[in-house]
Amino acid sequence: MHSKSHNLSPFPSLPHSALETFSSTMASQTQPEAPSKNVGPEYRPTTQKPLATVSTALKHENVHVLPQTPQLIALLTMIRDKNTGRADFIFHSNRIIRLLVEEGLNHLPVLEHTITTPVGRTYAGVKFEGKICGVSIMRAGEAMEQGLRECCRSVRIGKILIQRDEETAKPKLYYDKLPEDIATRWVLLLDPMLATGGSALMAVQVLKDRGVPEDHILFLNLIASPEGAKNFAEQYPKVRVVTAFIDMGLNEKNYIVPGLGDFGDRFYTM
Ligand code: URA
Repeated sequence: MHSKSHNLSPFPSLPHSALETFSSTMASQTQPEAPSKNVGPEYRPTTQKPLATVSTALKHENVHVLPQTPQLIALLTMIRDKNTGRADFIFHSNRIIRLLVEEGLNHLPVLEHTITTPVGRTYAGVKFEGKICGVSIMRAGEAMEQGLRECCRSVRIGKILIQRDEETAKPKLYYDKLPEDIATRWVLLLDPMLATGGSALMAVQVLKDRGVPEDHILFLNLIASPEGAKNFAEQYPKVRVVTAFIDMGLNEKNYIVPGLGDFGDRFYTM
C-alpha cells in the first residue's frame, strides 16, 4: 500500500539490528531511554557523527515520522532550545512546517499527466487528483497556515477553536468556520503539538460530522507525545498522521517532554 519512499520506520537509515536492540531496550525498562542515532552526512564515518536523540518509534501504519535527517534534527534543536528567541523560533519552525507540508502532499493521490516540453518531447508525469483545503486548530495550528500557502497557492483554510471546558476539564468546541464544500476535499488538519490528543480527536469528529471521509484527512504535526499519537492513530486508523518527531511523553501539566514549551506562546507572544 505504501511506496518505498514512505518507509514506516522513522529510522530509515538504521540497520534492522539496531532497531531490534532499541525495541528490546524499550521493553525491558520502565523508564524508556530516548533513542539516539549518529547524525551527519552519510559519507562521514560514524565516529565523526555526533549522537543525537531521535524520534521514538511507533508501530502504527497511519503514523509517518519524517526521516530523522541532520537537517531536521538541527531545526528541532533550535526550536526546542529555551534560549531561542521568537524570530529564530518562527523562522526555524516555518522550515519544519514546510517539510511537513511537502511530505504531507506526497500522501495525496495523483493522476497520470503527460505534457509536451518546449523542445517538443513528451514527458509522462502526474498531477494531483482532487481539491484540498487546510483546517487549523486555533491558535497554534494557525502558525502552520503560511507553510501550507507557500506550497498550495490560494488554498482555502478553515479554522476550529477547541478549548478545555473549565467545568468538565474536557475539550469543548467553541468555534468552527469551514469551507462549504469541505466534504468533497482532502483536508490537511494543522496542529503543531499533539499532547493528549483531545483537541485533534475532536477536530476530526467535527470534520467527519461535515461529511469528510476519515481517509481524506491528513494530520500535520511537529511534535507528538507517544500516548497522544497512539491514542489518535487507534481511534482514527484511516487518518494519516505526518509528524516530525514523537517525543518521550507528557509531564504532570500535559506538556510534551522534552518538548519545546508552549508553541503558541513562543510563536506569537513571547
Ligand atoms: N501544546 C504546546 O504548545 N506544548 C505542549 O507541550 C503541549 C501542548
